[in-house]
Amino acid sequence: MTPVGEAGAPAARQPWRGVIEEYREFLPVSEATPVVTLLEGGTPLVPAPRLSERVGARVLLKVEGANPTGSFKDRGMTVAISKAAEQGAKAVVCASTGNTSASAAAFAARAGLTCAVLIPEGHIALGKLAQALIHGAKVLQVRGNFDQALTIVRELGERAPVTVVNSVNPFRIEGQKSGAFELVDALGDAPDVHCIPVGNAGNITAYWKGYLEYREAGRSTRLPRMLGFQAAGAAPIVAGHPIERPETVATAIRIGNPASWYGATAAAAESGGGIAAVTDEQILAAYRFLATEESVFCEPASAASVAGLLATGLPDGLGPAPTVVCVLTGHGLKDPDIAISQISVPTAIDAELGAVLAELAL
Ligand code: F0G
Repeated sequence: MTPVGEAGAPAARQPWRGVIEEYREFLPVSEATPVVTLLEGGTPLVPAPRLSERVGARVLLKVEGANPTGSFKDRGMTVAISKAAEQGAKAVVCASTGNTSASAAAFAARAGLTCAVLIPEGHIALGKLAQALIHGAKVLQVRGNFDQALTIVRELGERAPVTVVNSVNPFRIEGQKSGAFELVDALGDAPDVHCIPVGNAGNITAYWKGYLEYREAGRSTRLPRMLGFQAAGAAPIVAGHPIERPETVATAIRIGNPASWYGATAAAAESGGGIAAVTDEQILAAYRFLATEESVFCEPASAASVAGLLATGLPDGLGPAPTVVCVLTGHGLKDPDIAISQISVPTAIDAELGAVLAELAL
């Protein structure tokens, strides 16, 4: 029987309420917290049949590009901006390789807060720059890299009346751990293996925290192996020391001295996983594979999770028929320049049926 609402009409299905309302009991919010949300989270977990076949496991893709600003950053930003508003902040600031700035700009606008973002000049994807600008952030292009910009932002947070909304702000990590909750809710337990790109290392730290808290609360019975992947030209954790001049096509993770370095190594060590590097070639091959074989268009940094899985294979000691989740952290449309550089430019033809038929050779 169809359930009926009070007025006798069919009861509406409860729509997704955003990260804070869905996971309130696990988050540092109270009734006094003004919830600033764009209904982030609740993203698709898409089966990847061809990838599964190649890897010999059931592989699923957590499509974080489906968030309101097109990346996982919205999960943390809803909490960071809500808490900033609760604490009476007037302005927020972040350093960013692009996605954090897009998300901060959008959520700050929603909350009526001033937003300033520092981005590395010439090394941020076009879509992300467009987002920060259109949402009204004050965008400063720094002649330097992300690590330098973050150093300045941290100092700014101490000297000026602004709240830093990089993942050094613990509320960001709190919100981002919701990704792990969603995975367990969808799968009925934690996956066997969790693959994730690593840049500033906040996200791997957040997922691990989420898995631990959910198991502690009895919502899951086990923990996944955490496999983090850095780009080879920007792989400080793999190298064991900061990289002064990180370089990679995956600009989102072009980071040489991650703020949550320890969080990443702890997640890898405690879970029996690891942190490894993938080359730009491997990243771009995975990026094209995902688009052409699985019909999921993610940005290059996101493809590092799949590139890593393909390069390193499954860890030893898994049970039969393991489940693997790869987090695809941001949408492919963020970086149209890279997409176009990976394909041949469309042919121009005369506006005639004959020309189309000749060209398509059907
Ligand atoms: N994937 C994408 C698409 C990202 O934008 C980032 C980080 C990561 C992966 C890595 O996540 O830093 O938590 O290890 N982007 C940050 C930014 C640095 O400024 O947007 P992480």
